[in-house]
Amino acid sequence: MTQRTPSELKFDPEDLIIRPVNRSDLPALEWHGVYLKYRRMFASIYRDSRQGRVLMWIVEHKNGELIGQAFVLLNSSEPDSANGQTHAYVFAFRIKPEWRSLGIGSYLMQFIEADLRTRGFTFVTLNVARDNVGALRLYQRLGYRVTGPRPGVWSFVDHRGRTVHVNEPAWHMQKDLRESD
Ligand SMILES: CC(C)(COP(=O)(O)OP(=O)(O)OC[C@H]1O[C@@H](n2cnc3c(N)ncnc32)[C@H](O)[C@@H]1OP(=O)(O)O)[C@@H](O)C(=O)NCCC(=O)NCCS
Repeated sequence: MTQRTPSELKFDPEDLIIRPVNRSDLPALEWHGVYLKYRRMFASIYRDSRQGRVLMWIVEHKNGELIGQAFVLLNSSEPDSANGQTHAYVFAFRIKPEWRSLGIGSYLMQFIEADLRTRGFTFVTLNVARDNVGALRLYQRLGYRVTGPRPGVWSFVDHRGRTVHVNEPAWHMQKDLRESD
């Protein structure tokens, strides 16, 4: 992967494709090892996407490079996050470091919001770690409001089959899509 200098950074929507994740994309979601630990989780989320419970989006450069991704849970056991009708929950929202601060994250989020509108959803929700002040600021700029704290305690099984416990206190945020119609 080549590092780009700031003067080379350009964001032209014509260069980017936002599309659903295919099975063959799953290895690229590991970002050359950075997210290897999530291999089993990605496979499980992919299975959920085939059942229509989750949307998995990637941002791809027209040269085939994966630039970023975001997943959207449409239904869950937490109705104030995702309830299959009004609320959908965005997670695993990330842009590769060398492509950040170009507006691509905002572009992806706006794409997701437009897509959820067409599916009839009115609220987009997400959790952001309390120490992730950059992402919190970005979400607020995009119209998300903090609705309350979340303990951020969860676990996943890593690529070696070990259970990893995560403790990441978070803010729950929500955007009412009807306010920006
Ligand atoms: C959060 C994240 C997805 C944002 O992606 P991004 O592509 O950098 O987002 P944007 O470029 O749209 O906006 C980020 C900042 O760049 C600025 N920006 C937007 N367009 C810009 C442009 N053309 N030139 C320079 N800066 C720009 C925005 O004003 C914003 O600034 P802010 O931090 O003051 O709000 C990315 O930082 C990331 O992957 N972080 C690590 C994973 C993570 O924390 N994900 C969120 C989990 S809840």
